[in-house]
Amino acid sequence: MSSAERVVFEHVTKRYPGTGAGNPGAVEDLSLEVPAGKVCVLVGPSGCGKTTSLKMINRLIEPTSGRILIGDRDIAQQDVIALRRGIGYVIQQVGLFPHQTVADNVATVPRLLGWDEGRRKDRATELLELVGLDPTRYANRYPSALSGGERQRVGVARALAADPPVLLMDEPFGAVDPIVRERLQNELLNLQEQLAKTILFVTHDIDEAIKMGDLVAVMQVGGHLAQFGTPDEILANPASDFVARFVGADRGLKRLALTRVDALELMPPVTASSGDDAADARRRALADPFPYLLLVDAERRPIGWVDQDDIPSSGTIGEDLATAMSPLFSRRTTLKDALAMLIEAEVHAGIVVDGKGAAMGLLTADMIFASSRDGRSPEARAGA
Ligand SMILES: Nc1ncnc2c1ncn2[C@@H]1O[C@H](COP(=O)(O)OP(=O)(O)OP(=O)(O)O)[C@@H](O)[C@H]1O
Ligand SMILES: [Mg+2]
Repeated sequence: MSSAERVVFEHVTKRYPGTGAGNPGAVEDLSLEVPAGKVCVLVGPSGCGKTTSLKMINRLIEPTSGRILIGDRDIAQQDVIALRRGIGYVIQQVGLFPHQTVADNVATVPRLLGWDEGRRKDRATELLELVGLDPTRYANRYPSALSGGERQRVGVARALAADPPVLLMDEPFGAVDPIVRERLQNELLNLQEQLAKTILFVTHDIDEAIKMGDLVAVMQVGGHLAQFGTPDEILANPASDFVARFVGADRGLKRLALTRVDALELMPPVTASSGDDAADARRRALADPFPYLLLVDAERRPIGWVDQDDIPSSGTIGEDLATAMSPLFSRRTTLKDALAMLIEAEVHAGIVVDGKGAAMGLLTADMIFASSRDGRSPEARAGA
């Protein structure tokens, strides 16, 4: 029953009446489309027009020119009050009402919509559970008796109360410490898996943008859209020097952090178990370009590596042949973490294992490097 609508900016410009020679726009000819159910992060340095862009969606600010659609409807043609009830809004300072309980804060929009008390209470309870606050402990507290992170969660619950198709979040996690911030980010991502709202999320932190966004809009002072794309596109092919500088010199590593081991085609290892025929194992190992045989137990769990030259030409394989072991990765390990583990272990290859610890395949440093070249422009590759 959850709903979502696309949000479209068409040549939207906002110039504040004002001073200064050229009177540059706060937002200049912004065009982009956020598909229904996606998270779009607006990111850029201070003063680049992020908040202005967001506030034009719920008409706290009216554009100088251009138009904004939600679904197929021009928001300028809609009643402002009705429009805002269909948009959840979370801001940095949260803006909870201090003299109302948590439950009443959460039920603000349902109250405006005229829901009866029973239904409001049920909805507040449901939403507090959704954002991870036990209603029996929190519903009747006042905002002053909450931590910063708890207040943020109440703010999110309140924004979701009327099941709005669009959610606006302006630096929602800016005021909390890094650990709480990471937890709130993960909670929002989990929540979004169930809700699939259209979310416009503002931050000036590129790492947060990459983590949270299905799409990222990088903005530049003067209100220009510097680049709009998926996190991977932006990291792989920054559209300008500004974007390249903004995403950082470590963008290759950041990209590796976005990709998980299961996205790559793994190299199948040559395996043998204790008691197997050694001559056969030796023949198979020597026929493979990878110079080691992987010794596995009866459940295919890795025991260690045997140099192909050390495999006896007769008799059987014994576990004592194994001389070295590699780091083990799960399918969900990021390529960045995998590379860090290879560096730490001073080896070139690790073993990807399934949930039961059985070997699925090999991942080498070369495969990680090759993947980081995929998707980059020919010019970028030539420069590398
Ligand atoms: N009411 C106003 N009158 C005049 N200029 C304004 C007004 N509000 C914002 N501006 C200017 O518009 C530009 C964009 O402001 P905006 O608040 O959208 O930036 P922002 O990207 O959200 O920045 P921050 O990261 O610091 O929050 C800035 O140069 C700002 O000074
Ligand atoms: Mg702002």
